[in-house]
Amino acid sequence: MKFPYLSCLVLLIVLSAPGCSVKQPHQVAIASAHPLATQAGFEILHKGGNVYDAAVAVSAALAVVEPSGSGLGGGGFWLLHRESDGLDIMVDGREKAPLAAHQDMYLDASGQVLSALSLNGALAAGIPGMPAGLVHLSKKYGKLSLAESLQPAIRYAEQGFEIDVRHQKLLALRKEVLNQDAATAAIFLTQGQLPAKGSLLVQTDLAGTLKQLAAYGQAGFYRGTVADQLVQSVQQGGGIWRLDDLSSYQVLERQPVSGSYKGMHITSAALPSSGGIVLVETLNILEKIDLEAVDSITRKHLISEAMRRAYHDRALYLGDADFVDVPVARLLNKQYAQGLASTIRTDKALPSDYLTGQMAVKQGGRNTTHFSIIDTEGNRVAATLSVNYPFGAGLVAAGTGVLLNNEMDDFVSAENAGNGYGLVGGAANAIAPEKRMLSSMTPTFLEKDGRIAVLGTPGGSRIISMVLLATLDFAEGNPPKSWVKVKRFHHQYIPDQILYEKNGLSAAEISGLQSLGHSL
Ligand code: GLY
Repeated sequence: MKFPYLSCLVLLIVLSAPGCSVKQPHQVAIASAHPLATQAGFEILHKGGNVYDAAVAVSAALAVVEPSGSGLGGGGFWLLHRESDGLDIMVDGREKAPLAAHQDMYLDASGQVLSALSLNGALAAGIPGMPAGLVHLSKKYGKLSLAESLQPAIRYAEQGFEIDVRHQKLLALRKEVLNQDAATAAIFLTQGQLPAKGSLLVQTDLAGTLKQLAAYGQAGFYRGTVADQLVQSVQQGGGIWRLDDLSSYQVLERQPVSGSYKGMHITSAALPSSGGIVLVETLNILEKIDLEAVDSITRKHLISEAMRRAYHDRALYLGDADFVDVPVARLLNKQYAQGLASTIRTDKALPSDYLTGQMAVKQGGRNTTHFSIIDTEGNRVAATLSVNYPFGAGLVAAGTGVLLNNEMDDFVSAENAGNGYGLVGGAANAIAPEKRMLSSMTPTFLEKDGRIAVLGTPGGSRIISMVLLATLDFAEGNPPKSWVKVKRFHHQYIPDQILYEKNGLSAAEISGLQSLGHSL
């Protein structure tokens, strides 16, 4: 399946006088993919909540009003900054593989990948981390109760919200899969067809599950009735979840990746997301190159070559560091980047098969969601949340309203086999019980010359390159309007081609890049 390149980069900026240290923002700002989710955040702030309570409210609201992107059945990463003590931390609510998962679970008898199994239906679903993440954020960092912060989401689920064109478009991409389960189709479709624009999506079962979470915290989802319903549905659908998969789920806190680029400080996602490492490694390579001194064709060529090398390292080395050794320090080392930069020629593209460990090809699309919040003290949250493909696995666990994710597809099912986004990898990201699948989600803070950016985006494998292009634009002093408008292009090592958004490259750039040896 191919999804359009279009994605929304959600971001915020705070300006102060150039050269000064970062000043306090004058007002609170929230940016999310849906106005009702943004409103939920403001509602909680007005009730006396802090940015972390607002993050709970926005995350839960997105789970209701943007079910294509994220949900209680999914997971994500919340990057937090607390101004009072300078704390930077990443809350890891990533899904994990079920206990009965094994490396070959998506292969047939002859070792061929059955990719539909890791994309559609119950076997594709990892153990959700989103509900535990909300509980953790609220308990450890919030001021209000979890029940208060979940109120707007519960209201949206009970009273319904109006379906917009974007929701319809994403539904259309997954209509066939959603129609495979009658109860799921009954929630999202109208007699198997797309619901009309402006019609109300009411999610009564989901409201019930949110109320269980509000009343009982983590136990309200991972134990008791909801857990029983989830496991029963998954097993009936051919999946392998057990009750102990849910009861043993734990949120983890990770030290974010940090780096620098020409005087800019970067704070970004740590493993099990590849986002921060690939972003900082690419910037380290580009720091050795004078991008300002070259024409636009050479600039795009050089950025693509840096992406190629960093995504190559992603494929070779990155996976859940609780299970495999990852050479993080080396990948973030500036001398290592210098070595990689020295292999880049300005006059010629390096074919990806000249890099070691070449692997197979496939390409595809995206989903996921991102939101950013900053308050007047400078406390901030950048959160990227996901059920993976639009509407995840396309299956709702009966009675819960919870749409299952298909995040298991972010693992490597077989060496040399690309996943739904065409991303390749090796043993480091092989499936193992309780392992977290490698992500590309890149919630990020940037600081330079008294300015702060809080940013991230949906976009599957292209998340990292979109954040990179926005980061370069921020580093050049441009305002947020400009970062959002930057025409996106992307190289992920395999497939060996530059992907670009519609009208993203001029005719001269296309032929110039082709003459340097790129395929586009
Ligand atoms: N499922 C998208 C990602 O985590 O990268």
